[in-house]
Amino acid sequence: MTEEPELDVLLGTERTFPPPPAFAEAAAFNDPGIYERAAADPEGWWRGWAEQLEWIEPFDRVLDWSDPPHAKWFAGGKLNVSANCLDRHVAAGNGDRVAYYWEAEDADQTGPEGRKQITYAWLLDQTQRFANVLKGLGVGKGDVVGIFMPMVPEAAVAMLACSRIGAVHNVVFGGFSAESLRERMEVSEAKALVTADATLRRGKPVEMKGQIDPVLDQLPAMEHVIVVDRCGTGPSMNEGRDLDWAEAVSAADPVCPPEPMDAEDPLYLLYTSGSTAKPKGIVHTTAGYLTHVTATHRMVFDLKDDDVYWCAADIGWVTGHSYIVYGPLANGATSVMYEGAPDYPGKDRWWEIVERYRASILYTAPTAIRSFMKWGDEYPAAHDLSSLRLLGSVGEPINPRAWLWYHEKIGGARCPIVDTWWQTETGGIMISPLPGLTTTKPGSATVPLPGIEAAILDSEDNEVEVGAGTLVLTRPWPGMARTLYREPERFVETYWQRYGPATYLVGDAARRDEDGFFWIVGRIDDVINVSGHRLSTMEVESALVSHPSVAEAAVIGVNDEHTGQAIVAFVTPRDGVEAGPELTADLREHVADRIGKLARPKQTLFASDLPKTRSGKIMRRLLRDVADGNDLGDVSTLRDPSVVESLSEQISRDR
Ligand code: WTA
Repeated sequence: MTEEPELDVLLGTERTFPPPPAFAEAAAFNDPGIYERAAADPEGWWRGWAEQLEWIEPFDRVLDWSDPPHAKWFAGGKLNVSANCLDRHVAAGNGDRVAYYWEAEDADQTGPEGRKQITYAWLLDQTQRFANVLKGLGVGKGDVVGIFMPMVPEAAVAMLACSRIGAVHNVVFGGFSAESLRERMEVSEAKALVTADATLRRGKPVEMKGQIDPVLDQLPAMEHVIVVDRCGTGPSMNEGRDLDWAEAVSAADPVCPPEPMDAEDPLYLLYTSGSTAKPKGIVHTTAGYLTHVTATHRMVFDLKDDDVYWCAADIGWVTGHSYIVYGPLANGATSVMYEGAPDYPGKDRWWEIVERYRASILYTAPTAIRSFMKWGDEYPAAHDLSSLRLLGSVGEPINPRAWLWYHEKIGGARCPIVDTWWQTETGGIMISPLPGLTTTKPGSATVPLPGIEAAILDSEDNEVEVGAGTLVLTRPWPGMARTLYREPERFVETYWQRYGPATYLVGDAARRDEDGFFWIVGRIDDVINVSGHRLSTMEVESALVSHPSVAEAAVIGVNDEHTGQAIVAFVTPRDGVEAGPELTADLREHVADRIGKLARPKQTLFASDLPKTRSGKIMRRLLRDVADGNDLGDVSTLRDPSVVESLSEQISRDR
């Protein structure tokens, strides 16, 4: 990482990209006046979007913000999310329309089973049946259902079935460990879990059900586990508790009327990392969330009837919830859903998929783009990518070099790029270009969408017009998280206290340039963003110290060319424990068991003590300087200055 950041800055400031004229002309949103109109009447703006949904009972009021930070959107209204995503399209005669082109990882070996055209009619049928299965198991309105699944259509069906009966889903990313799943199921008191026997990864089944069996026994509230047979591995089934998905669904009644839900009823929980070791259960509700994701999916991706849209995220993250399932389905879109690894069987798998389905929109993360860059231009070049007309990015800042590569090698220099900034908490996209309107600058998410208001505050809480500071959101928006599950005070303290109850503290630092464009710099809290996945330093630290050989541990995020940030762990072993490669490997394994593979430290450094002030506080800034190889300055205030020397030596040895 020598000259690259500078090169990035240079590239980023030198070039701007106006929408190609033909694209702008054909775009549904190409009137710059919408920003002003939405700002003049934000409630009217969102009302317009909400009215495009199908309501069982109309709402009385767009927004009730009389008791900030507790917002009510579309109060009085009743609707059902699955009915909006499925029934109304089928009723309009679009039952045969493809909702997902599902591509199995092993599609080349499995014939038609590996490439399924999932229609809206099929999704509706499966959703109603599975909703009846859940009902039959005693799951009803307000009950929590865990979902721990690979990228298979049943994952979407399970989510939609919950929404049909008013159950609240709690999806856990399939790459998390059994222990992470256990924690999330326990704190939400999930009554049922949907999972699979195994997930296919680079051609081999990786056990899911068997991996989580030991923790399922520790969950007193967990009554039923429904298992999708993805890989035919025949996991052990616990009589009375475990059910086979296919058997249950085929035996179920095919009709399940949608439950009328209040606008503010919860739709789902999604646990994400914050600045403590304990994950936060973000709560999203029904009408506001659906309005937000439907509107933003339509606007930001300039969605057209004949688009083939591919969001290459995992359903286990918020991006999958909002932009694989709810937004696209509510809009009646045709999507691609791909099950497996991007480099299996070859490093051109994604480009083969784009070519096969003539994908027109691709939405992915900078970390993926950087991997493709590293693998080489020849892989995309070997395929016909001319169907693409729009590209999107999400999850972390995209560096200008990656932006330009994406633009040229994937987008053929003809596709606008929408760099979309948002969070699990915001529910949907907040700051992003509109591709038919915004002149983009590589590396900037540009400006807040119509109806959204953001600001940057300096250390004295004054708004910064041009310059850097803390990013805040200054107006409520329909997709906003309503609370943290069973931790209402933590919700207020974390997001709505620092600047008063009506100003949302994002947790990101940002800069605004002369054109009013926002540049997201990174987190201001103890959250590390590895390959677009949020992890808290405390979460990883507490995993490390739970290992019997560890006395103390501190974790920091360092910049990484490929993963954005990477985890460096500083560990003090217990007396008598030998620090070395074996312990390093052991600790990586341990962290994978506790949290998941994504949380494994990239580098582990050992020291007899961590750099601390005389009062015993770990000096994280110093750890960061050590990891970055910076000049450490005066360390004489440390309790034991020799510690940093030994750490610095290890760093230079390792690199
Ligand atoms: C970061 C993912 C820069 C940011 C949707 C945010 C981004 C966190 C961008 C949320 C972007 C997301 N540019 N940074 N376009 N998108 N981030 O909850 O730090 O997994 O706060 O939601 O990712 O991550 P989360």
